Amino acid sequence: MQSVTSLDLRKITTENPLKVCFVCLGNICRSPTAEGVFQHIINRDGLSALVEVDSAGTAAYHVGEPANSKSRMIAEQNGVSLNSKARKFEYSDFDYFDLIIAMDKENLHELQRMDRKSQYRDKIFLLRDFDPVPGDMEVPDPYYGGINGFELVFEIVMRSCESLLDTARPHMSP
Ligand code: 4NP
Repeated sequence: MQSVTSLDLRKITTENPLKVCFVCLGNICRSPTAEGVFQHIINRDGLSALVEVDSAGTAAYHVGEPANSKSRMIAEQNGVSLNSKARKFEYSDFDYFDLIIAMDKENLHELQRMDRKSQYRDKIFLLRDFDPVPGDMEVPDPYYGGINGFELVFEIVMRSCESLLDTARPHMSP
């Protein structure tokens, strides 16, 4: 995959808001961070009526749990609240969401495997398709590592979400 500078999106209105679902493995570290950060910048820019944000995991290990305490701590230090409860990505999410954004290639491949007929392939991206900084295409899994990994996740997520919003903005008509 390569960097996305334009999106083939329909017109985004308050009647038909853009629906975005971020996806990682457990839905307790990376995708809740992306959900919280994207919601934060949407609110900051007064666009909450035009965008709906959610997150999910490809695995069910942590269903019902709040975001990881280290993810929440780093987010809070940056003025962002993470309020999600972990849930598993469901097949019906393919239809509901306009953009389904995976954190790493394993999550991406699992989504592509679930989308057996490649019906929804144009909705599925990697978050780092939107990263303005070239390099690795994955948001590294911080779960088994130290605090530095969570800080790195926040940094990548913040700049990639800003770029995602800039890419979607031309399609919005308030
Ligand atoms: P996440 O991190 O996919 O960013 O939520 C993980 C959370 C839990 C596990 C792995 C990664 N786990 O193996 O339980």
